[in-house]
Amino acid sequence: MAVDLLLGLQWGDEGKGKIVDVLTRNYDIIARFQGGPNAGHTLEFDGIKHVLHTIPSGIFHKNAINVVGNGVVIDPVIFKKEIDALKKFNLDIKAKLLISRKAHLILPTHRLLDAASEAAKGKAKIGSTLKGIGPTYMDKTGRNGMRIGDLELSNWKEKYRLLANKHEAMIGFYDVDIQYDLAELEADFFKAVEELKTLTFIDSEEYLYQAQKAGKKILAEGAQGSLLDIDFGTYPFVTSSNTTAAGACTGLGVAPNQIGAVKGIFKAYTTRVGSGPFPTELFDEDGETMGRVGNEFGATTGRARRCGWLDLVALKYAVQINGVTELMMMKGDVLSGFKKLKVCTAYNYKGNEITHLPFNIEAENVTPIYSEMNGWAEDLTKMDKADQLPSSLNDYIDFLEKELEVPIKIVSVGPDRTQTIYR
Ligand code: GDP
Ligand code: IMO
Ligand code: MG
Repeated sequence: MAVDLLLGLQWGDEGKGKIVDVLTRNYDIIARFQGGPNAGHTLEFDGIKHVLHTIPSGIFHKNAINVVGNGVVIDPVIFKKEIDALKKFNLDIKAKLLISRKAHLILPTHRLLDAASEAAKGKAKIGSTLKGIGPTYMDKTGRNGMRIGDLELSNWKEKYRLLANKHEAMIGFYDVDIQYDLAELEADFFKAVEELKTLTFIDSEEYLYQAQKAGKKILAEGAQGSLLDIDFGTYPFVTSSNTTAAGACTGLGVAPNQIGAVKGIFKAYTTRVGSGPFPTELFDEDGETMGRVGNEFGATTGRARRCGWLDLVALKYAVQINGVTELMMMKGDVLSGFKKLKVCTAYNYKGNEITHLPFNIEAENVTPIYSEMNGWAEDLTKMDKADQLPSSLNDYIDFLEKELEVPIKIVSVGPDRTQTIYR
């Protein structure tokens, strides 16, 4: 049985949490493959809104197993909070949530290093979520990291101490004033680790291999988005993992020839939180309207998301890099009431018109070239069938499908599970 993927195609926050929750009824296993608590995946059903950071978005379905893969980085303190928030739902977390022994741990000092590194960068800061993601992946690739499986060893605290001491020395290297009480942070950390140790740790690559052989349906859930990929995103304003399709292979131990559908998800417009180039960003009333109607505030940090028109140059690039086989368009409802909509179909790059994403998309090099389309006035949020969609929205969708050469199978018209239209 092939493993299907679900990936964000923009700068994150496309609505992955909602769609994974909607799709989970078709799957036996949901497996997160990269990122950590920098992610904020929002789900809404039965009048409840829930934000998940590390736990896969299939957790609310009774019959689905949720796997946190080896490619994920876990902060025990945040993880404990997530588990605590789930307690009222009476889920059998020990049976339903399985954690890879090869996933890396975010230590309190990783968070401090993140803060020190960002402060030292000043104006050039990445706009990190300050969850310690970069320093943890640095320790992973530097072969210094601590993994979930280490917690099963009797000497794990010695390993912890060595690494934390090294981090403290590294914090001293940055010429910035970071205030912290390590003893307090460690007390929280050790408490959270004890709770983490009561959960189920597995050799997830073996588990997923056997599940595939047994015919189980698996959906791999990505975090962030393709333009935040460490290799293919808008470097250095990216996260520290491979958010693209290949990341699911390394982040779960799934062989490339076992990948089935690649489901790519995008907003009908574009948002970005944090620093970095954003060619179609709007600084006018239209951008302000998108942010207000779309409630564009980060699910993890609460920061206002920057908003702009849909960028097809960037979206085509993401479709290409990921081998997307089907698309899902989110938040079309937010665009209701715009008389005219713009879609960026090419860039003017240093005087030449190009349709691929170049090395550098900073504003001084790139000016977006737009196609203009008619908007729609109808409220979409109560619609539940494709034949109810207004004709100018259908024109918008047809235009995108033609440009992207991939079908748009789902149109989402609101945050709730039920506000989902299949085409
Ligand atoms: P993720 O990180 O990709 O899971 O996305 P986030 O949860 O960070 O951000 C998406 C936001 O949009 C959340 O607040 C969702 O509840 C909301 N949302 C998802 N789909 C839709 C939709 O179709 N319309 C509207 N209006 N909101 C949506
Ligand atoms: P989900 O999964 C949107 C952004 C941060 C920052 C950059 C690096 O909810 O879509 P990091 O903390 O990883 O060092 O931050 O990446 N970023 C996200 N933006 N959605 C996310 O996750 C993000 N995770 C990280 O704002 O610009
Ligand atoms: Mg999010």
